[in-house]
Amino acid sequence: MNETKQSCRPYVHSANKAQRNVTYPCCQNLKKVQTKVQTPDLDLDPCPAGTVVPVLDFSERTGFQLRPVAGYLSARDFLAGLAFRLFHCTQYIRHSSDPLYTPEPDCCHELLGHVPFLADKNFALFSQEIGLASLGASEEEINKLATCYFFTVEFGLCMQNGQTRAYGAGLLSSIGELKHALSPNAKVLPFHPDVTSKQTCIITTYQDVYFISKSFEEAKHQMREFAATIKRPFEVRYDPYTSSVEVLISPHDVCKVIESIRDELTVLTHVLSKLQCRVDK
Ligand SMILES: [Fe+2]
Repeated sequence: MNETKQSCRPYVHSANKAQRNVTYPCCQNLKKVQTKVQTPDLDLDPCPAGTVVPVLDFSERTGFQLRPVAGYLSARDFLAGLAFRLFHCTQYIRHSSDPLYTPEPDCCHELLGHVPFLADKNFALFSQEIGLASLGASEEEINKLATCYFFTVEFGLCMQNGQTRAYGAGLLSSIGELKHALSPNAKVLPFHPDVTSKQTCIITTYQDVYFISKSFEEAKHQMREFAATIKRPFEVRYDPYTSSVEVLISPHDVCKVIESIRDELTVLTHVLSKLQCRVDK
């Protein structure tokens, strides 16, 4: 056990350094890495194999929590967690004999690949929307949603300032696959949820194909539109006050949503009138 711990520690240092220095992540990730990952809470140095990843709480930023799990969850369970702002995080860490790639998500993948995005309000909301879309969906729709999640949140590419950038956590946590995905050898297709959702997800080696969007925002927009096509007889809405999900199915439920929107519009109206006063002075 001690031997395993010692052999894994040097990798953590090198992976940390390598991932921070690469210039391939899209700016959303880099910004969060610079502002968040270097804080003591997310320091990877004291994270040997077999230890439990702490329950990280981003309530100040996005309300997301990192919840440790022992192994793989089903797609339905994993996506359902996102609906409740819970990101289930593995405990395993790759062996130093193969530091550039791990077939199974490990602590480096979770902390370097996912955590910076979960600290971003916009992206966290996007992740939660995918989770909310999964609630009550059929098995077929869950599979499609999970596949799109896989090729965006895990292995997505986007254009930024005329250059290809990665935003997928699977790429940002694997310097080996990141280089491969951005090399001329990789097959890269435009991201279209209808097409992408039929692609096979590979979990034992590099992907056969990667999907690229015109921008990070475009990828989110496409995923939102795709999620909206999922058929179910109700809608759901997250209640941040109770950390629960409301099922919206009756006219009474619609009235409650309208009431809430009206409150927000009141605040907006007050802000606009104050801005107007400033302009008039
Ligand atoms: Fe992941």
